[in-house]
Amino acid sequence: MFETLTPKPADAILKLIGEHQNDTREEKVDLGVGVFRDRDGNTPILKSVKKAEQWLVDTQTSKSYMGSRGDAVFCDAIQKLIFGDAASSDRITTIQTPGGSGALRVAGELILRAKPGATMWVSTPTWNNHVPLLGQAGIRLREYPYYDTDSNSLHFGEMMDALEHADAGDLLLLHGCCHNPTGMDLSVEQWLLVADLVVRKELIPLIDIAYQGFGKDLDTDAYGVRLLFGSVPEVVVTHSCSKNFGLYRDRVGAVALISPNADIAEVVRSQALSVVRTMYSIPPDHGAAVVSRILADADLRAEWLAELAEMRQRMKDMRSLLVAKLKEVAPDHDFSHIERTSGMFCYLGVSPEQVARLIKDRGIYLVDSSRINVCGITEANVQYLAESIASVL
Ligand code: LMR
Repeated sequence: MFETLTPKPADAILKLIGEHQNDTREEKVDLGVGVFRDRDGNTPILKSVKKAEQWLVDTQTSKSYMGSRGDAVFCDAIQKLIFGDAASSDRITTIQTPGGSGALRVAGELILRAKPGATMWVSTPTWNNHVPLLGQAGIRLREYPYYDTDSNSLHFGEMMDALEHADAGDLLLLHGCCHNPTGMDLSVEQWLLVADLVVRKELIPLIDIAYQGFGKDLDTDAYGVRLLFGSVPEVVVTHSCSKNFGLYRDRVGAVALISPNADIAEVVRSQALSVVRTMYSIPPDHGAAVVSRILADADLRAEWLAELAEMRQRMKDMRSLLVAKLKEVAPDHDFSHIERTSGMFCYLGVSPEQVARLIKDRGIYLVDSSRINVCGITEANVQYLAESIASVL
């Protein structure tokens, strides 16, 4: 049977982890996979997480099964994080999932149950795994322009024009904040225009908010989600705690499904639980239990919020530092867009050939689209990084 299979190329982001690890050059720099790094280049466990883990070790009395929905306390807390004051609405049902990818896959399967042959519009570009993940689930994907690599700005007019071709009932994938890979987000005015279009064309938004808290703050980052929740009867929101809680390998995420009314929400929940049962049965518990504890305990919550603000500030500082260094070593080139982006990523704005040279000649690892994770920049490597970039221009 297996001899019928042909090799698949490695994932463009995940392969960089191994390639960087195997590189023996001292000066190597990892701007690849989206994990936070501190000023020493480490991805530490948050202090609030360590404390919640210790509390779990001390107090947890059973590892017995949970249900397919996961931890109800976690689901309620994440619902509050996403929707704020509107979280008590009986139109929303939230399910714990294995990371943001799990949330997307549950959403994809559920959408296809409700609407076989569903079409979803995705931004060009979008996160590397959106298209394979949702496409493999069986959703028909269409693209809308989002980012202009010549001017390093949004293709907003083109995006809106393309979406005029969407049919009523089509899904529209939007990034809640910190667009991955470009870091270029919709402004408030643009969100309002998108919401108008979604209402007028009767589209169903699927908002992936994998970086809540990494842009401006938890509430501001949820602006688009909350706006669309208040504008249309059906919305799907996928959430991840990989980044904002640094729980990458523990696989903690959630999908929030918004229905026109409470009766439909009940049915949607039963279907979502059946999707989960037939895919992986029950989500992993540990990371979600950690998040539940942090969000329920006032001191831990305050500590986490401070740690989140610190991560956010570091990303902002490293953007400014790189732009300043690039101004010194490549004064004829404009990299100012890097400071106009938010979250973990932005496009550097070089070609795939230049990326290949950065990797081969300099040991600087980034995705071939020229997406960089700004957390890979440190005070110690920024000079080398800027000079290396200048050398390939
Ligand atoms: C990324 O975009 O680098 C992260 O979301 C990690 C991943 O799974 O791709």
